[in-house]
Amino acid sequence: MAKIGAAQTPPTLPTPAQGVRWTTPIVETPGIVVLASWIWRLVRFLVTLPFRFPVMVACLAASFAAWWWLGWPGLAGLWTTALVVSLVWWRTWPDSYRYCVTLRLLAWWRHVFVYRRHWQPVLVISGLAESYQERRYLPRIRRVMCDIWADRVRVSLVAGTSPADFETRVAELAHGFAAPSCRVIVNRPRDITLEFPRRDTLAEPFDALPTPDAPELDALHVGQREDGSPWRLRLHGTHVLVAGVTGSGKGSVIWSAVRAMLPAIDSGTAQVWAIDPKRMELAYGRDLFAHYADDGESAVALLELAVAQMQDRARRYAGKRRSHTPTTEDPFVLVVLDEVAFLTAYHPDRDIRKRSENAIATLTSQGRSVGFSVLAALQDPRKEVMNLRNLFPDKVALRLDEASQVDMILGEGARDRGANAHLIDPTFPGVGYVRMETSPAPVRVRAAYVSDDDITAMTDVYAASDEEVGR
Ligand SMILES: Nc1ncnc2c1ncn2[C@@H]1O[C@H](COP(=O)(O)OP(=O)(O)OP(=O)(O)O)[C@@H](O)[C@H]1O
Ligand SMILES: [Mg+2]
Repeated sequence: MAKIGAAQTPPTLPTPAQGVRWTTPIVETPGIVVLASWIWRLVRFLVTLPFRFPVMVACLAASFAAWWWLGWPGLAGLWTTALVVSLVWWRTWPDSYRYCVTLRLLAWWRHVFVYRRHWQPVLVISGLAESYQERRYLPRIRRVMCDIWADRVRVSLVAGTSPADFETRVAELAHGFAAPSCRVIVNRPRDITLEFPRRDTLAEPFDALPTPDAPELDALHVGQREDGSPWRLRLHGTHVLVAGVTGSGKGSVIWSAVRAMLPAIDSGTAQVWAIDPKRMELAYGRDLFAHYADDGESAVALLELAVAQMQDRARRYAGKRRSHTPTTEDPFVLVVLDEVAFLTAYHPDRDIRKRSENAIATLTSQGRSVGFSVLAALQDPRKEVMNLRNLFPDKVALRLDEASQVDMILGEGARDRGANAHLIDPTFPGVGYVRMETSPAPVRVRAAYVSDDDITAMTDVYAASDEEVGR
C-alpha cells in the first residue's frame, strides 16, 4: 500500500519523440480575395461567351437591338422572320437544317443537362476522379457534339491519367450516362473523345445486302457497324475465326461473306470450299461451292487437297512473286469450316483430329500470301477445344457464354475496352464485336441476315458448274 504523505513524482513535459505533432495553421482567405476571384470568373465568362456560343449570343444581341430601336413590334417582327426562314430552310434542305440547327441544339442540351450535370459524380464513382471537392483534378469536358446516332464528348485529361484509364471504365461510363455503350477514341495522349450511342442502331435485323458488281476480297461488305457505316470483312490475305454460342448468328457472317464474293465466284477468280459437319449450315447452297464435305473423312481429304494445292502454288511463286492476285488460273480459295471443333476436338477418330489440325495449321500459317484463306466458325473458344485460334489474325466475337471468352477471341484488354460479347442480347443474333486494324478499340457490328430464300436465289444464279471448278 502507498504511504500517505510520501513524495509524488513530479509530472514531466512530453518530448517531441513522445508525440508533439506539427499542425498546419489554418489561414482564412480574406473576403476581398474571394470577391475578386468571383469577379474575375464572371468577367472571363462574359468575355469568352461570344466565342463559345456565337450563334446564341448573336441571336440575343439582335433581339435586344430590335427591341431597343423598334420596340416590341420590332422584336416580334424579327422573331416571326426568323421562324419563317427556319421553316423554309427545314422544308427545303432538311439535312443541312438537321446538321446546323437540330443537332447543335441537341448537343447544347446534352452538354448542359446530361454530361456537365452528371460529369463529376459519374467520374468520381467510376474511379476516374478523386473526390467531390477537388475539381482541379477532374478531367474537363471541352465540347459535346451530336450526330444522328451518338454523342461525342471531347475530354481533356488531367496530368497523371491516361486514355487507358478511361478504356477500362467504359461500362461504368456508359451506365453513368445511360448509354448502351461507350467507346474511347484517342485524339492525342491527353485529349480523348468518348462516344456514347443514344440508341442501339443494331437492334433491328436487316436483309441480305445487294451483291456487288466487283467484289473487293479484302473488304467484303457483310453488315453494318454501330455508327451506321458498312462493316467490311477482309478475307483475301488473312484468316477469320467467328466465335459464338449456338444461335448467335455465325451462319449469317459466313453467308454474308459468301454472298459478297458471288461475282468473283461467278467469274472464276474465287472459289469457296466448304466443310459442314452439321449438314445444316452450308448444305443449302452446296452448288455454290467448288468442294463440299460433310463428314470427318471427306473433310480431312478436302483440307489436305487445299494444303497440296497451296503448296504447289507456293512452289510456283517461289522466287518470282511475293503476293497473290486472284485470276482464273490461280483463284482466291476460301476454305469455310463450320464448327471447326468437330474436326479438331469432338471427332471420335484420333487420326482425323490430328490430320485436320495439321492441315488447318498449315493452311493458316502459310496460305494467306498465296491466296488461300480459312473462314472458321466455332462455338466454344477454349484452348482445349481449339488450340489453333492464334493462327487466325482476324476474329469476330458474337454472343459468348462467359466474360473470360471475350479476351480469348479478341485479344487481351478487349473486354475492358467495351467488347461485352457475353452481354449481347440473345434476341440479337448476328450482333458481335470486331477489332479493326486501324484501332485497338473493338467495334460493335451486325451481320446482314441471309435467309434460305436468298441462298436459293443465289444458287439459282451463281451455281458453279463442275467443269468450271474442276470437281
Ligand atoms: N444477322 C442476323 N440477323 C437476324 N437474325 C439472324 C441473323 N443471324 C442469324 N439470325 C437468326 O438466328 C438463327 C440462328 O442463327 P445461325 O444458325 O446463324 O446461328 P449459329 O451461330 O450458326 O448457330 P449454330 O452454332 O447452332 O449453327 C437463325 O435461324 C436466324 O433466325
Ligand atoms: Mg451455324
